[in-house]
Amino acid sequence: MTTPRHAPVLLDRVVALLAPALEAPGSVYLDCTLGLGGHSEAVLERLPHTRVIGIDRDPEALRMSCERLADHGERFTAVHAVYDELPEVVASLGLDHVDAVFFDLGVSSMQLDVRERGFAYAEDAPLDMRMDPTTGITAAELLNTATAQELTRILREYGEEKFASKIAREVVRRRETTPFSTSADLVELLYATIPAPARRTGGHPAKRTFQALRMAVNDELAVLRRAIPASLEVVGVGGRVVVESYHSLEDRLVKRAFADATRLDVPPDLPFVPEGAEPAFRLVTRGAEQADEYEIAENPRAASVRLRAVERVRPRSATRSTSPGVAR
Ligand SMILES: C[S@@+](CC[C@H](N)C(=O)[O-])C[C@H]1O[C@@H](n2cnc3c(N)ncnc32)[C@H](O)[C@@H]1O
Repeated sequence: MTTPRHAPVLLDRVVALLAPALEAPGSVYLDCTLGLGGHSEAVLERLPHTRVIGIDRDPEALRMSCERLADHGERFTAVHAVYDELPEVVASLGLDHVDAVFFDLGVSSMQLDVRERGFAYAEDAPLDMRMDPTTGITAAELLNTATAQELTRILREYGEEKFASKIAREVVRRRETTPFSTSADLVELLYATIPAPARRTGGHPAKRTFQALRMAVNDELAVLRRAIPASLEVVGVGGRVVVESYHSLEDRLVKRAFADATRLDVPPDLPFVPEGAEPAFRLVTRGAEQADEYEIAENPRAASVRLRAVERVRPRSATRSTSPGVAR
């Protein structure tokens, strides 16, 4: 059963933003964060001419969404990949372009709910946090090997943790005698390190550190930095890219990439617009859209969402590239 915790965020608005790009028969929708398939299912049901390709780096998410979407037969294709590989995924399916790309960033409720994945600070479990448990280093391995400097940077940058350097120093001190293996090991250290008055404000004291480690373990920002320009390159005219971010660094990155793609790139005193200087995209959303209080009450995950969308208005070859080095 779909509980509110598993409800896709801003579902109707996302489908409304995608729909104009997906009306033509044979249109192709690329869901870069398939997860449990909630957004993809709505596209399959409401846009009957659209073929859906769903990417996820988590094999378990793919298994569950394939089961959920099996009735849609050949209209749905699932691919195990990291989303910055989207150009290769599209090419491997024999496609030259797609009509819409969607990202619903971050971790899924399923990943948070499964104790053994180690994403949740409220559960004692092996400290893993890899979205794809078949590759890469775990959060425990990161804690046991990174320098204090690197840990400080991760906690400060991704978690905006005020006590980043103090926590990093304590991590390095503790691991010399007892390496980290479970989430309880880390939560215990955080309780002992973060001063009591600070623990009483700003949510659970482990929240920021767990978020920061998850972003580092999965290299989330670097992957997103490559994926957004790649998504802009892969949509044809009329095609849309729609992104839901939940972290200010993610949203900033998306905002800048969309601003670059929609900006008229000529000196302000030039009396004419040289050919090829027009932007290839237009903004579809004004600023970042947020969830309303009703959705947030039903689905707490919606509280931090920022939704942005752009549409390609000029052909890929006729305009300046949105991604240096990616030729089309
Ligand atoms: C928030 S959930 C998506 C939920 C989905 N929209 C739904 O309605 O069920 C994010 C999903 O994206 C996947 N993911 C996150 N980063 C990824 C990446 N770089 N490449 C591929 N999948 C990624 C996660 O494994 C997770 O399953």
